[in-house]
Amino acid sequence: MNTSHTVAKQGYVHKWRRALTSLHRRAVREPYYFALNRTPSYHAKADAPSIQQLYDEIKSLLVEKNAVVIAHYYTDEILQQLAEETGGFVGDSLEMARFGRDSDAETLVVSGVRFMGETAKILNPQKRILMPALEATCSLDLGCPIDEFESFCNKYPERTVVVYANTSADVKARADWVVTSSIAKDVIEHLHDQGQSILWAPDKYLGAYIQRITQTDMVIWDGACVVHEEFKAQGIAALKHTYPDALVLAHPESPPAVLDISDYIGSTSGIINAAHSMDNNRFIVATEQGILYQLRQKLPHKEFISAPTAGEGATCQSCARCPWMKMNSIQDIHHILLTGENEITLQPDVRQAAMQALQRMLNFKKT
Ligand code: 13P
Ligand code: SF4
Repeated sequence: MNTSHTVAKQGYVHKWRRALTSLHRRAVREPYYFALNRTPSYHAKADAPSIQQLYDEIKSLLVEKNAVVIAHYYTDEILQQLAEETGGFVGDSLEMARFGRDSDAETLVVSGVRFMGETAKILNPQKRILMPALEATCSLDLGCPIDEFESFCNKYPERTVVVYANTSADVKARADWVVTSSIAKDVIEHLHDQGQSILWAPDKYLGAYIQRITQTDMVIWDGACVVHEEFKAQGIAALKHTYPDALVLAHPESPPAVLDISDYIGSTSGIINAAHSMDNNRFIVATEQGILYQLRQKLPHKEFISAPTAGEGATCQSCARCPWMKMNSIQDIHHILLTGENEITLQPDVRQAAMQALQRMLNFKKT
C-alpha cells in the first residue's frame, strides 16, 4: 500500500509558537489576566454588579432576546452551568454545530473560540451569532493562515483537502471536507476506501494518529494545539505507577507518546462517554481541565486526575488551560446580550464555499 506521511514545515510556526507559549504561561499564572484586561469597566468599579446579579439578568435577557448559550466543555464552569440551566447546550465542537443548526433561537451566544462562532454562522446565515470574546482564537487556527494554506494545497492538486474544524472560515472554504475530532477517523477511512489521497491540516498530531490507524496516504500541515502539546508521557506514566488502576483518556491533539500510553483516544464528548462506559473508577485525563466539571458532575463516584504537563520549561504541574477558552466570561455574555456587540459576520462567497465542506461532514453517515 502506498502511504506517505509528510509534514509541511513553515518557518513562521516557530515564531507564533514562542509568542503563544508565553501567552499561555501568563494565562496559567494569572488566569483572570485576560478577563480583567478586556472588561475593565466591570472590574474596576466598586459598584459593579455581582456575578450572581449578572447571571440572573442574563437569564431574563436570553428569554427577551430569544437567545441560547452554546458552550464548549473547556469554558469556565459557570458558563457551562448557565448554558445547561437556560435551555442552551454544552458539548464538543461537532455537537455545538449541530445544536446551533437545529435550535429555534434567533440568537446563538457561542461561548468557545472564534472558529466555533464562525461555524455557527456558516450553518445559520439567518441567525445572529454573538461571541463573548471575538479575540478568542486557537493556536491551530492561528498557525494556518489562508495564504500559506492555499500555496500548500496548490502543491498537491490531486489530493482531497480535509481540514479540522479548528480553522478559519477562509481555510474551510478552500477545503473539500471539514471534520472534527469525533468524526475525523471515520471520514478519512471512508475516503481511503474510495482510493483517495489526503491533504490534512492543521493538527499534525491528530493527522499522524489518523494516518497511522487508517494507513491512509496523507500529507500533513505542521500545526499543534498549545494546550495538548504540553502533556508529557513520562509524567502520565509516573501517575499510572502511583495509581495502577487508573485508565488514561486522551484527546487526539496530544503528542504521539501520550496517545501510545492511552487507554482511550477521542473527542471531548468521546472522553466523557468513555469514562461513563468503562468500569474503572479512576482516570487520568489528557485534555483541557474545563472538562473535569462535566466529568465530576456526571460521574461523582469516579475520580478524575488532570494529566501532568510538567516538563522542561513548564510553569505548573498541570497547566491544561486554554487561554482563549478562558476569555469567555459572564460579564461579556451580559454585555453582548445588552448591546448586540461581537456579532460574527462572514463574506457571502466564503460562507457558501465553507458551507459545502461543512455540510459534507454533517451529512456523513458511517457505513
Ligand atoms: P472537540 O471537538 O473534541 O470538542 O475539540 C475541540 C478542541 O478545540 C480541542 O482542543
Ligand atoms: Fe485550540 Fe487547543 Fe484551545 Fe482547543 S484547546 S481551542 S485546539 S488552543
